[in-house]
Amino acid sequence: MAFNPLQEKGIPIEKQFKNWVDLNSKPYDKESVHPYTRTRGILMNGIEVEAMLFKHQFARNTSDMDLRRHLALTRRVEQQQQKAVNWMIPGDESNLEVTLGYEQVAVDLTAFLARTEPDPYVKQVLDFALIEDFDHLYRYANLMKLTDGKEPSEITRQYTEITVGRPTALEHRHPFDEVRDFRDFATADPLTKLHILTIVAAEQQTMNFYMNVGDRAMDMLSRGLYLEIAQIEEQHVSHYESLMDPNASWLENLLLHEYNECYLYYSLMQDEPNPEARALWEENLAMEIEHVKMAAELVSRIEKQDPEALLPRELPQIFKFESNIDYVRDILSSQISLTADETRFVPAEKMPRDHRYFSFQRMVNAKGSPSEAVVDGLVKKSGNDYRQELSGPHPVKMFQQADAIPAVKNRMRQPQA
Ligand SMILES: [Fe+2]
Ligand SMILES: [Fe+2]
Ligand SMILES: [Fe+2]
Ligand SMILES: [Fe+2]
Repeated sequence: MAFNPLQEKGIPIEKQFKNWVDLNSKPYDKESVHPYTRTRGILMNGIEVEAMLFKHQFARNTSDMDLRRHLALTRRVEQQQQKAVNWMIPGDESNLEVTLGYEQVAVDLTAFLARTEPDPYVKQVLDFALIEDFDHLYRYANLMKLTDGKEPSEITRQYTEITVGRPTALEHRHPFDEVRDFRDFATADPLTKLHILTIVAAEQQTMNFYMNVGDRAMDMLSRGLYLEIAQIEEQHVSHYESLMDPNASWLENLLLHEYNECYLYYSLMQDEPNPEARALWEENLAMEIEHVKMAAELVSRIEKQDPEALLPRELPQIFKFESNIDYVRDILSSQISLTADETRFVPAEKMPRDHRYFSFQRMVNAKGSPSEAVVDGLVKKSGNDYRQELSGPHPVKMFQQADAIPAVKNRMRQPQA
């Protein structure tokens, strides 16, 4: 798998612009699409959004006019790729259906990254948020059952379980406790850098998506659930972005962004069954090859650095969307009670009673929590919550039945306990 984008032939930059008709991708059929084709699209949309936002920020922070023109040029292509990717989602897929896709991305992306992450601290950071997004999937699935009676597992199918994770109501932490230690990119494993860039982009897009569609629902419960989970996604963006090396230069970051785009498109095209999606991954890879070469040229011309020394000699282990049921169960059973104290993770029951974790919880959950209300609502309506437990009962005993939920309520009523 010796693939080095710097040695490959890309599409020349002046040939990368498309007309409106070719850009307007044919949407997939939501009934027959493979769940991981949907998640690949959601992930790459987030990657392209980050590529474009990063280049806007960079352009606002440099006075080099040629560099600003380079950023404008390639940014326009990133924007085009974002449209082509995101326009694969059909108009008849509801916001809530797309939302379940977003949380399936969060679960199976994070689990794969954690399983393959060489840096133990970064792995811990991934595992920590993994079971929070896993809980979001459960809350939104319960909302879907409650509000439109649809079957949530028709989105996720047999790949991803849907059940209680670290309860969302207990995920709310003081912002000081979302800031992690940063890594040194000069010594970090290349895979660690790619993992951090990827997860930041994915969480940022999830945050943006809930910020924008959360108020499109009519009923107060749905609106409440979106805004509550959107605030956890804000926490997740803070949590992951703080791993990035603040001492890496803008140009080094640019090079890493382009390299990561190559890495992901190359990875995703390996097992894409949908011919239109596959053609798009291949075409976008050819564009990114040119972007990474241009960024490498800028690094050597402006920073007098050898770009090859900043990148791996060949693509590291490729990323794959695949089922992670056993891994997620493992993390659930060992880490469900963790919370954060500054940069460390500790069991909530070991936190001092006067820790800001509890006072913050008290404040935001003072009038209840939509993520609890949605499960209560479904239990009241149909006698039980919605779950899709494919490998047996919940690995944490207290969450084996919906009536375990009172344990969470107790914590909410007496946050010190
Ligand atoms: Fe791109
Ligand atoms: Fe989430
Ligand atoms: Fe998240
Ligand atoms: Fe790019």
